[in-house]
Amino acid sequence: MELDTKVSERLRNKNALDLVVSADEAAKLIEDGMVIGVSGFTPSGYPKAVPLAIAERVKNGEQLKLDIYSGASVGPEIDTALTEVGAIRKRLPYLTNSVIRKAINNGELEYDDMHLSHSTQYVNYGVLPKVDIALVEALAITEDGNIIPTTAVGNTPSFVKQADKVIIELNMHQPLGLEGMHDCIIMNNPPNRQPINITKPCDIIGTPFIECGIDKIAAIVITDMQDRTRPLTPIDENSKAIAANIIKFLEGEVAAGRLTDTLLPIQSGVGSVANAVLYGLLDSKFHDLTCYTEVVQDSMLELIKAGKVICASTTAVSPSPEMKEKFDKEIDLYKGKIIFRPEEISNNPEVARRLGVIAMNTALEVDIYGNVNSTHVMGSGIMNGIGGSGDFARNGAITIFSTASLAKNGDISSIVPMVSHVDHTEHDVMVIVTEQGYADLRGCSPKERAVKIIQNCAHPDYRDKLMDYFNRACKSGPQHTPHILEEALSWHIKYQKTGSMK
Ligand code: COA
Repeated sequence: MELDTKVSERLRNKNALDLVVSADEAAKLIEDGMVIGVSGFTPSGYPKAVPLAIAERVKNGEQLKLDIYSGASVGPEIDTALTEVGAIRKRLPYLTNSVIRKAINNGELEYDDMHLSHSTQYVNYGVLPKVDIALVEALAITEDGNIIPTTAVGNTPSFVKQADKVIIELNMHQPLGLEGMHDCIIMNNPPNRQPINITKPCDIIGTPFIECGIDKIAAIVITDMQDRTRPLTPIDENSKAIAANIIKFLEGEVAAGRLTDTLLPIQSGVGSVANAVLYGLLDSKFHDLTCYTEVVQDSMLELIKAGKVICASTTAVSPSPEMKEKFDKEIDLYKGKIIFRPEEISNNPEVARRLGVIAMNTALEVDIYGNVNSTHVMGSGIMNGIGGSGDFARNGAITIFSTASLAKNGDISSIVPMVSHVDHTEHDVMVIVTEQGYADLRGCSPKERAVKIIQNCAHPDYRDKLMDYFNRACKSGPQHTPHILEEALSWHIKYQKTGSMK
């Protein structure tokens, strides 16, 4: 009885209760060969019960191969469960799950690793095979049959618009206090696209719900399953040193009069370095900060609580399990300070350029000329994907990439003669930071960049070797971006053959 009252508080359309079915019943709507657009961004706000029920169908002998589109990474209920039963044919636009990563690198399924802002418009332009069913975690269904999302908006508005049918997972665990924090809109396709009217990170331009309509909703599943967000990892010494170097660089920009103590809107990637940088801001002199980003994690929530950040625009909030509990209880603290937007808007190049974001993302490796590889280990194996890093990197006012100077206990130098895969070209990358220091590449020629990167960022164990490569390259051919092609990837080949670049 009490659950019924709570459900009807959330299912406000008069026909919605009639659509309630079990996860198994809802999963029967999925047919072999379909394209499923799932809600969620980072392991946050994604459907859980229906994907597990789909996996059960396959375990019981049914043949199902699906294309799964999402906002970004989702939880194991999708990427692990469906990969393990071989139910995914193609996946896009981003992931972080180790089971699906392994399957992709083994050639078991296709993966399109995309700029996240492109993923929305590929759907809206009709470039990708059409979404048949949108599978969406919801906080509530409004009187008009529209969807109030939970902790991620991602690509859901476009999936819902394109899908023939929508399956809702109404998540009773997500706090109703989230209502009112979303700002949803879908842009018209060119030539009818209008300017995006955001001139400050927390300007509101859309509606607090995703347009749907009750007729499109084919099933509603009631669940209280929680997001499997990542636990906190302790911040290591390298991350602290990288964070200190980024803050030193930003202080230099203030001293030079190019920034003020309120900086510009911050975009920060995910992971331990990003976390450390944001925690570093807690003790810095910077104040009244804003944020225009795609994911808010623990450190950003702390900055908001401490009053250091006055407003954060994002597409998802993805706290650690401990922090999620606090976030749910203290949600009123964040109202008006966190705005959830579709990733078409959170990651939009037009807005990133207008606001002048400070884009801070992470590299796997960087070459002496400033090209960055964020996605592929030794050129071929996918790690996660480019995510939103490219959306912000090419369009920010300042674009910073950081990495520890060494990987794999020192057997890999993260600074190499030539990267084995390029995500961010030398033309997009402005500042490289390692625990050794930073290299401000703005206004530098390729050869000037090489000297700065090697001297300021490479680990001492590899510095002389890099300088030797560069000096010999400078004597060996055309002099704009000197390379010795037969040696350029020899560091990677040596690692593959011997287990070390040394
Ligand atoms: N060559 C080979 N492997 C390398 C490497 C290199 N140059 N540098 C790091 N690695 C390995 C590490 O050893 C580690 O391996 P393990 O998982 O076996 O321990 C793994 O790559 C991850 O490295 P780590 O140092 O733990 O990095 P991280 O957790 O900070 O993640 C990225 C770094 C680049 C993988 C991650 O930031 C990413 O996926 N970025 C792309 C997406 C993005 O930027 N999104 C931002 C918008 S949110």
